[in-house]
Amino acid sequence: MANSRFRPINFLPLVFCFLIVPLTESSSDTNSVYSPCSDAKIQRKDGFSFGIAFAGYSEFLPNSSSNSPQLSPCDRRLSLSSANSQVAVFRPKVDEISLLTINTSNFFPDSYGGYMVAFAGRKYAARSRPTFVANSSHIVTSFTLVLEFKKGTLQNLYWKRFGCALCSGNGAFVCINNQYCAIRTSSCKNRGGNIDCSLGIQLSFSGTDKHDSVFNSWYEVKNLRQYSLFGLYSNLRDSLTSQFNKFF
Ligand SMILES: *[C@@H]1O[C@H](CO)[C@@H](O)[C@H](O)[C@H]1NC(C)=O
Ligand SMILES: *[C@@H]1O[C@H](CO)[C@@H](O)[C@H](O)[C@H]1NC(C)=O
Ligand SMILES: *[C@@H]1O[C@H](CO)[C@@H](O)[C@H](O)[C@H]1NC(C)=O
Repeated sequence: MANSRFRPINFLPLVFCFLIVPLTESSSDTNSVYSPCSDAKIQRKDGFSFGIAFAGYSEFLPNSSSNSPQLSPCDRRLSLSSANSQVAVFRPKVDEISLLTINTSNFFPDSYGGYMVAFAGRKYAARSRPTFVANSSHIVTSFTLVLEFKKGTLQNLYWKRFGCALCSGNGAFVCINNQYCAIRTSSCKNRGGNIDCSLGIQLSFSGTDKHDSVFNSWYEVKNLRQYSLFGLYSNLRDSLTSQFNKFF
């Protein structure tokens, strides 16, 4: 069914586009939907495409003055294309804990409004709340995103916060609103410091696939978080911030 309110995302300036290739053989991926602005019904081991848009907080609201509901970045009523925005597209494997990275050596989120929204779907347009990433003085580099499915259709995306326990006592970090650790931008590489302030987004999946099989990765994240999941990604750990190193 054509729905004129929606159209594919490629009108957005897709300057960087990461395709996270599944680590196992692609034959297990039965999902033929590659656009983050189309609806997919997935089963375990499928790839699943979703997008992350960077823009200012108010760019994600159709009417910043009214309290109208937030729209999906796929919805052209938002006119993100004419706004100062960027989109990254990812295709992780469903029900595997993945760590997505966005290299900030040439991309400063604060130049694009400083907030991000994760989104996927068209008729079932799901999108997260905008979450703060960076302003000119601070950047948050560590995120956990939960993708919640019901019978294989994405219902909800949300950012999980784990508080500031892991960053307290480290001088490079600042705790914001008792919710997340931020790094002073002046400590970042290319900005006068020596920390790699690339963004790390840890994904997990909850709910059920189209065969009612239950996703387990969110359960694993909850239980592993106390040891910091970054330990699972030893190859990435050195290139990401040293934020959690003392816990390995
Ligand atoms: C924004 O608000 C105006 C006036 O209330 C309304 O006419 C318009 O449809 C709204 N735009 C969206 C995208 O909801
Ligand atoms: C950036 O955001 C942090 C956290 O909200 C805030 O403490 C700081 O004052 C902001 N900096 C600027 C320049 O707005
Ligand atoms: C980001 O890119 C720079 C330059 O290409 C590279 O030196 C750095 O290691 C990269 N960081 C990550 C986390 O991949």
